[in-house]
Amino acid sequence: MGIIVVNTKAYWEGIGKNAVELAKIMEKIGREYGVEMAIAVQPCDVYRVANEVEIDVFSQHIDAIEYGSYTGWILPHAVKEAGARGTLINHSEHRIKVEDIFAAAKIAAEVGLKRVICASVVEVARAVACFMPEYVAIEPPELIGGDISVTKAKPEVVSESVEAVKKINEKVKVLCGAGIKSGEDVAKAIELGAEGILVASGVVKAKDKEKVLAEMAEAMVK
Ligand code: G3P
Repeated sequence: MGIIVVNTKAYWEGIGKNAVELAKIMEKIGREYGVEMAIAVQPCDVYRVANEVEIDVFSQHIDAIEYGSYTGWILPHAVKEAGARGTLINHSEHRIKVEDIFAAAKIAAEVGLKRVICASVVEVARAVACFMPEYVAIEPPELIGGDISVTKAKPEVVSESVEAVKKINEKVKVLCGAGIKSGEDVAKAIELGAEGILVASGVVKAKDKEKVLAEMAEAMVK
């Protein structure tokens, strides 16, 4: 079954009560179409959103730290305690060193958070697959937030990432993201071998979020 992960970033439409509202729409559409949904919110919104919905709530980031003197850092244990079931790691807009990707992925696994490790190019997708996350998300940075989907602009990046990741471990699922806006983009992602999508502006900034999500979910189960 495919998954739709919506990243609310720091968009006004995806913060606080707006994040809750969006998560509820995702939950409704997910149930209607039998599609797994996860919402990646600001760490400070995890608790609030997780209290309102059954779908998975992910943190947009965690730091590779344990309990201790780390003022202002995002503690994986705290995110888990707040109700998160997963986390993004190394998003293109919050890239970290390879040692920290490894350490964050390890701590996340220890505390029971699913991991979506983001990669900008095929080579990075292959490399982070070695950390055995649940998901690797391939997102060419230059297409993020734009109107042309990765599936149209760089379909080979998706299919090559799938091939590279699966060679490392069949169990690691590949998501693709950047510029995904429609059911057609989702259908193409699945055709290219992705097992889900990571999307932000196409949903979070859409006028009719329910309609776009329904279109995407429908394409996912076709
Ligand atoms: O995390 C998803 C994101 O980076 C893609 O953004 O706005 O192109 O869907 P967007």
